[in-house]
Amino acid sequence: MNLYTETIKTLTISDLAAMKQAGEKISCLTAYDASFAALLDGVGIDVILVGDSLGMVIQGHSTTVPVTIDDMVYHSRNVAGARKRAFIVTDMPFASYATSAQAIRSAARLMQFGAAQMVKLEGAKIEIISQLVEQGIPVCSHLGLLPQSVNCIGGYKVQGRDSKQARSIIDDALKIEQAGAAMLVLECIPARLATEITNRLRIPVIGIGAGAACDGQVLVLYDMLDISVGTKPRFSKNFMMGAENIEDAVRRYHQAVKSIQFPGLEHNY
Ligand code: KIV
Repeated sequence: MNLYTETIKTLTISDLAAMKQAGEKISCLTAYDASFAALLDGVGIDVILVGDSLGMVIQGHSTTVPVTIDDMVYHSRNVAGARKRAFIVTDMPFASYATSAQAIRSAARLMQFGAAQMVKLEGAKIEIISQLVEQGIPVCSHLGLLPQSVNCIGGYKVQGRDSKQARSIIDDALKIEQAGAAMLVLECIPARLATEITNRLRIPVIGIGAGAACDGQVLVLYDMLDISVGTKPRFSKNFMMGAENIEDAVRRYHQAVKSIQFPGLEHNY
């Protein structure tokens, strides 16, 4: 290494936890390929989520249900090869973590062949989370609106509006942390509920449609670039508006998250 070589350190889960402690917001976007991963990384996005939303924005399905573990390994590997600094979280797809044994096999593939630093799964799967953590697999849980359960909940609806549901989401969040999860995504819940959960947990809480008090924010890249097909969720924002190009739009998003300008009240439930 010569003196002028710049070494960029890849972020770790400890860095993200330290950001929460320091009150620095965590910026996160989805990416599914090398070109976008390199662009996001260059702008300084802290976390790249290889989301199973790729089933909708890449594959053109109406839900995330058809996405397979092979799809996730392929896209995760492409993203991981192109980033230098960002922390990589990869989704466990539908029905790939029905039992602890299956979850360990699926997560191992995402980490060994997809170079994921952490896997994300939907719901309060307490036993599965603790078994994964036991194997040295960092876990991000996902509560609130669970897209993989869309066929059970009958559509993409705000969760936790009534006090019984809100209480159960809080209880799940506490249990998830207790089980060893190192990060939590909260999707589409009232901002007040997300604020309480964020304040009560030590692990970083990343919101999507969950208000500005979360420790960080995530959006589906194609929604914020306004190139996804169909209607955009109310909690998203078109960052291409007024931007010079895609890189500028991503930079504006990154800065808006860091300075707590995004999400605004109009994106809240
Ligand atoms: O798959 C995905 O993109 C996600 C986000 C919506 C959080 O899980």
